[in-house]
Amino acid sequence: MKKMATPLELFSDEPSLTISNTFAPSNLASLYWGECLSFLKTIPDKSIQLIVTSPPYNIGKPYETRLDISEYIVQQGSVIDECVRALQPSGSICWEVGNYVNNGEIIPLDILLYNCFRRHGMKLRNRVIWHFGHGLHCSRRFSGRYEVILWFTKTDDYVFNLNAVRVPQKYPGKKHFKGPNIGKYSSHPRGKNPSDVWDIPNVKNNHVEKTTHPCQFPVALVQRLVLALTNENDLVFDPFLGVGSTAIAGIINKRRVAGAEMRQDYYDIAVERVRLAYAGRLKFRPDKPVYEPEPGLSLVKNPFLAFG
Ligand SMILES: C[S@@+](CC[C@H](N)C(=O)[O-])C[C@H]1O[C@@H](n2cnc3c(N)ncnc32)[C@H](O)[C@@H]1O
Repeated sequence: MKKMATPLELFSDEPSLTISNTFAPSNLASLYWGECLSFLKTIPDKSIQLIVTSPPYNIGKPYETRLDISEYIVQQGSVIDECVRALQPSGSICWEVGNYVNNGEIIPLDILLYNCFRRHGMKLRNRVIWHFGHGLHCSRRFSGRYEVILWFTKTDDYVFNLNAVRVPQKYPGKKHFKGPNIGKYSSHPRGKNPSDVWDIPNVKNNHVEKTTHPCQFPVALVQRLVLALTNENDLVFDPFLGVGSTAIAGIINKRRVAGAEMRQDYYDIAVERVRLAYAGRLKFRPDKPVYEPEPGLSLVKNPFLAFG
């Protein structure tokens, strides 16, 4: 029987990307199926410019074994030690975490993990709040709608390309009304600093990037970090790659990428998505303001008000 063509074979005239399962500095993409510590040990010292990751939160997701919290911190610490070793002096680590929840009590993981970076002398530059609109509806506490990105640098001489990530001004037409610049536009022509609170939709069921992974990054979130904290051809690494969102954000912005994922189903999806991204065929939500529904739309009318 004739073998069915895979989606990639159907588009064989597209630019194709060689994805290696081992690391070499010259690889455009090194994606490893297996445990991140083993892979990290093959990456030479001071070779990575940016590490962006969202590790397991130890909350019992299908891809993790729940550990005692102190054991979890030790385990995370050993991955962080290796990441710091492999990071360039001008490099950054962005560790994205939420809360560990124990019998209804929330324990913020960023606070517990802070010292794993500080003990290497790394400096915290921002604690970015990633705010999103959808999640569990809690009945005995306020529903959680943000997670945190700890952005650490290895030295004071770090890459930060603010112009690459400016966002639209609220009042771009505003002018100075007094002083030496009176009458001139007062805001930056390329937009404003995006601040440390980022409103980017999380990947839920009807998001264009949704895969079978229960907690994937939106590409736009990683893209901001890639654009701000690296230059073209730099190496971007994710030790907990999932379905490859970090690698995708790197590849579409002409960076070299590497990552490790221990589950084969997620790894296979990551490889396929990275190939599609390289070929310019992966659909992803661009980094644009969150949609606000029109006030007249039937869905925004409160049906209960009709009953007075
Ligand atoms: C929170 S998810 C990351 C999702 C990812 N940011 C994305 O956009 O798809 C964590 C991932 O780490 C993987 N993982 C857990 N422990 C690992 C380890 N020791 N080495 C490699 N991957 C691991 C899990 O299978 C899971 O897919």
